[in-house]
Amino acid sequence: MKKIKENVFWVGAADWEVRYFHGYELSTHRGTSYNSYLIRDEKTVLVDTVWKPLTERFLENLKEVTDISKIDYVVINHAEPDHSGALPVIMEHNPNAIVVVSKKGEESVRRHYYKDWNFKVVKTGDKISIGKNELVFVEAPMLHWPDSMFTYLTGENILFSNDAFGQHFAAPGLFNDEVDECEVYQEALKYYANILTPFSPLVTKKIKEVKSLQLPVELIAPSHGVVWRQNPMQIIAYYEEWAKGESENSVVIIYNSMWGATHQMADFIAKGLELMEVPYKLFNSATADRNDILAEVFKARGVILGSSTVNNGILPSLSPIIEDLIGLKFINKVGAAFGSYGWSGESPKLLESYLEKAKIKVLLEGPKAKYMPDETELKVCIEFGKEFGRHLQTKA
Ligand code: FEO
Repeated sequence: MKKIKENVFWVGAADWEVRYFHGYELSTHRGTSYNSYLIRDEKTVLVDTVWKPLTERFLENLKEVTDISKIDYVVINHAEPDHSGALPVIMEHNPNAIVVVSKKGEESVRRHYYKDWNFKVVKTGDKISIGKNELVFVEAPMLHWPDSMFTYLTGENILFSNDAFGQHFAAPGLFNDEVDECEVYQEALKYYANILTPFSPLVTKKIKEVKSLQLPVELIAPSHGVVWRQNPMQIIAYYEEWAKGESENSVVIIYNSMWGATHQMADFIAKGLELMEVPYKLFNSATADRNDILAEVFKARGVILGSSTVNNGILPSLSPIIEDLIGLKFINKVGAAFGSYGWSGESPKLLESYLEKAKIKVLLEGPKAKYMPDETELKVCIEFGKEFGRHLQTKA
């Protein structure tokens, strides 16, 4: 248990072990936390719960600040099991508690737990008086599920934002000013890039709406990672920037190689970019972390894909990345493709078609080489890198 304001307590659970986030298949190098908050006023309110396997730790925290039977409201801002997993246990202890949800939240909680609990459905602008202070609700559909909702606590000026503004980050400190801010920034960006990017237009709209309410915000308390205490609006500013889809004038080269030919081509393309002074990063899709790659793609303007041709297709380690490039709907990116082959040589054309499907504009045709590239073909790779870099510079 940790106190975050006079009558508001963090009662969640840190998960230092998780390295691959549950249903999302998302790498979590720094673990995560499932943040749950307890508000003590004339009424007692629990905001979100934790992932079921950590229920015991959560209950220990909770019991330090309240008797579970005294909880009047359980706000479920979002029903994904990492936040609602311990709800059935709370309701077993206290079947009379009122479960506060958005309309979609009711559907979602019912479809997860099949219990006829006492639901109170709220919509944007609705308020519940809990004594001295009030809870104010703001629906946030598709940030990132249809049921997602923010809860604001007046008086203490806390925005409980659930997944939005969160990060997969376990730390001994609870507040952003108690931890390494570079690590938190990196995890917040990775979270946005891998989860929220497809909903960027909604992010922009929701932030505008929340700002127009002119609610004073002292703390932003998401349900993963740190609580934003020092300059809490910084994470909102980051989200506004990220939602615009603006990127650095840099390039990410993602490739896989059967016997080193495509790898060599990637290195020579990189040389061309270097000659144009365009920053780049190289990732072998067979060994690099998929979500780290996607976070780098999110930051960069250019994406160059390379693969050997195998079985008239591409090397399989590229496929999940391509699936995400399509699904995450990155905007304002440009790309190209290259690869080596032994006989049929379809890979660059196939990769180009995947880039197009991901709405990444193919700038120019990339190089191909049969078996191992010769000196002339390596020069072509350098020239291609230079040309790609030139395009980025002229469009900067
Ligand atoms: Fe959408 Fe943290 O669950």
